[in-house]
Amino acid sequence: MPLQLHLRCMNLSDELIQWYLKNKRDLPWRGTTNAYVIWLSEIILQQTRVEQGMPYFHCFLEKYPDIKAFAAADEDEILNLWQGLGYYSRGRNMLKTAREIVAEYGGEFPTEYEQLIRLKGIGEYTASAISSFSANQAKAVVDGNVFRVLARYFGISEPINSTRGKKLFQDAANDILNKENPGLHNQAMMEFGAMLCKPKNPDCAICPVRSGCYANHNNVITELPQKLKTVKIRERFLNYIVVTDGDTILMNKRDEKDIWANMYDFPLFETSHRLTAEEVLQLPEFKSHFGENNLIIDTYPIKKHVLTHQHLHAQFIHISNKPIKLEQKWFYIDVNILENIAMPKIIFIFINNLFNL
Ligand code: ADE
Repeated sequence: MPLQLHLRCMNLSDELIQWYLKNKRDLPWRGTTNAYVIWLSEIILQQTRVEQGMPYFHCFLEKYPDIKAFAAADEDEILNLWQGLGYYSRGRNMLKTAREIVAEYGGEFPTEYEQLIRLKGIGEYTASAISSFSANQAKAVVDGNVFRVLARYFGISEPINSTRGKKLFQDAANDILNKENPGLHNQAMMEFGAMLCKPKNPDCAICPVRSGCYANHNNVITELPQKLKTVKIRERFLNYIVVTDGDTILMNKRDEKDIWANMYDFPLFETSHRLTAEEVLQLPEFKSHFGENNLIIDTYPIKKHVLTHQHLHAQFIHISNKPIKLEQKWFYIDVNILENIAMPKIIFIFINNLFNL
């Protein structure tokens, strides 16, 4: 590291620790070296903000004062307490982690980074937080707050979620880590990001490190940190019901609000997850149109169709029954005149194969 940066770094950590000691919030998980308590708080705080997480933290700790008590809990109990925090797999994973710790470490919560990182549900951030807060291990935490402080102070414009960015930020965090007081340093970095170097309207006017801050000098506070926009892919499961009657087939006219606007496909029961053909036939929506006791003539391997922001998984279920209730947009059409109507490619290919056209 260049000497100039090194000197600035030393100042940054010292300054932030000074600021922290004067300004820190009095939070119940601070001032303890109990790894279980720290783990509990960190997992809750990954899910929600401090004010909202506090009652959950107290509630969990009261009910399960140590890791053994937690590991002995019922999954339903944990999920019940977790209610309101969202993302339930996190609550479920905590129970797995707790049981793993009881099985592997006899209920003694590990404090070594290398042990922690091997546990299910504990990533680099959590392992660094627990090992530095509970055992003062020299591991730098990098969370959203730390990304922001580093990006602004050093003027790092590499996106925080690019491969190169992640490494760059971790390296910068390691470089400035106060090796004598890593726990204190980490708390200070996070608290400074949360309270002063905030995402919107940071309090630069009262910032103790503004004179060394790149973003402040160059007026790019609102532009840092940078983040790559990741497109969220929507998985859609299109369960198509195929009904044939002699040379005719039941079709559906799509509306104009979705993909394949105004084109033609089959009666569709869309779900957000994969169902078997038998499960589709049990959907209340399906039953209201086709009744009970339907016979499946054939099913076909699921076809995946990739669009820019959506993955479509189409399954075709050929049944012998006719609908008991026709939707307005459903109609029978002679397969020999199908060329007159517009169909998505997967429907067109399916019909051609079905009728050997
Ligand atoms: N957010 C995540 N970890 C935290 C901690 N230990 N204190 C305050 N806010 C946090």
